[in-house]
Amino acid sequence: MSSCPHKPLLDFDKFAHGTPHETIHALRGAHRILWEEDEFATGGHWLLFHQRDIDHVLQSPALFSSSDGPLLDDFPAQLLAEQQESLTFMDPPRHRQYRSLVEPAFRQAAMRQREPMMRALAGRILDEVLPRGECEFVQEVAMQLPTRVIFAVLGVPPEDFAHVAELTNTLALADDPEFAENREAGFIASGMLMQYGARLAASHRSAPRESLTMTLLNSEAEGRKLTDVDFGRFFNNLIVGGTETTRNTLAGAMYEFIRHPEQYALLQEDPGLVAGAVEEILRFRNPVIYLRRTATQDLELAGQRISHRAKVVCVLGSPNRDPALFERPDEFDIRRPVEHTRRHYRSFGGGAHFCLGIQQARLNLTVMLAEMARRIHRPRLLTAPRQARSIFMDGFKELRIAFVPERAPPAGGPS
Ligand code: HEM
Repeated sequence: MSSCPHKPLLDFDKFAHGTPHETIHALRGAHRILWEEDEFATGGHWLLFHQRDIDHVLQSPALFSSSDGPLLDDFPAQLLAEQQESLTFMDPPRHRQYRSLVEPAFRQAAMRQREPMMRALAGRILDEVLPRGECEFVQEVAMQLPTRVIFAVLGVPPEDFAHVAELTNTLALADDPEFAENREAGFIASGMLMQYGARLAASHRSAPRESLTMTLLNSEAEGRKLTDVDFGRFFNNLIVGGTETTRNTLAGAMYEFIRHPEQYALLQEDPGLVAGAVEEILRFRNPVIYLRRTATQDLELAGQRISHRAKVVCVLGSPNRDPALFERPDEFDIRRPVEHTRRHYRSFGGGAHFCLGIQQARLNLTVMLAEMARRIHRPRLLTAPRQARSIFMDGFKELRIAFVPERAPPAGGPS
């Protein structure tokens, strides 16, 4: 299948093996802003590659709105009206009111409380696969920790895990025929996740128990208490935002460590390098490919006149590999200075919608990388990884690996 000549970047074929970094590098060098066609109603969008332009767009919600969402899709009117009631489609000042309700659950203090539970979970997840010496890393390991953590935070009962996880996959991977028959199926899954959230809210009201769900149900926005349906929208945002992204980053981490065994050896020898490893993985394998905003008026952007309602697309991986920001940007090196990497990558977006779960994301990655480095030795690929079909999320749907497990302690404990 050949690539469409009018799509320099956001074309499924170009992403068939993951983000095409060389193409992005060439486009960044040649253009500050670039028009490409797409199959949606407005017929195309503007691509941005440079950090200062991306920051300008994400930090100017009055000019570049989120009201049509972060994806290129033009949603059917009814679905759009429904989505516009959720956090990711809101603009300030309304957005701030809703966002502030969930923020406390993802601050450092909450992380400190949650960390022991997360370490225990990570241990149990590896206990399940270690004795086999091989596993399908995406579903059996990478997906498990972020999903089980957010389910625990929201009070999802264990018997519902599989159903919610399946809906999340259908929604996030709606362009991959292995997960959804078509885009429509993705929209339906999104509606079903919200409905599930509303049912979870109702069950918390009839049998109150401690969870973020309960906290949200007792809070107010716009002068009124949250309804079950309001909660369903939060639920959808948190589940989708918190699981697929982290899963892809963790699976990407395992893949890069297999490709760079010397980097894995560094981490195994010095567990203090885990913070550097987390940031380097987030820079090198950022899972969210782009963020879309919509121009609220005719205006000039990066020296180009663009029209009211034009779609503007921030290519998040571009600054992450920009040689003006990072030395040797295409080298995977966990020894890079942590603060410099954090300041310059754009994996978590920017502005009002900057990732709300960033501390949770970092802790998920820290806990699992530390556990892997301690207990999984000499990992190797069993087959080539399989990339999920998407131009929004970069990640594997399958990563089969073998490894040498840590030796179990001798029966009766050390002599
Ligand atoms: C590697 C992991 C992660 C990455 C790369 C990531 C990336 C992002 C990005 C790029 C955005 C901006 C969306 C926009 O501007 O429209 C975002 C927003 C968001 N993220 Fe994350 N995320 C990660 C993990 C998490 C986790 C673990 C959670 C929650 C538990 C979470 C919850 C959210 C929520 C709720 C939003 C919407 C915030 C808003 O609209 O104000 N994310 N994330």
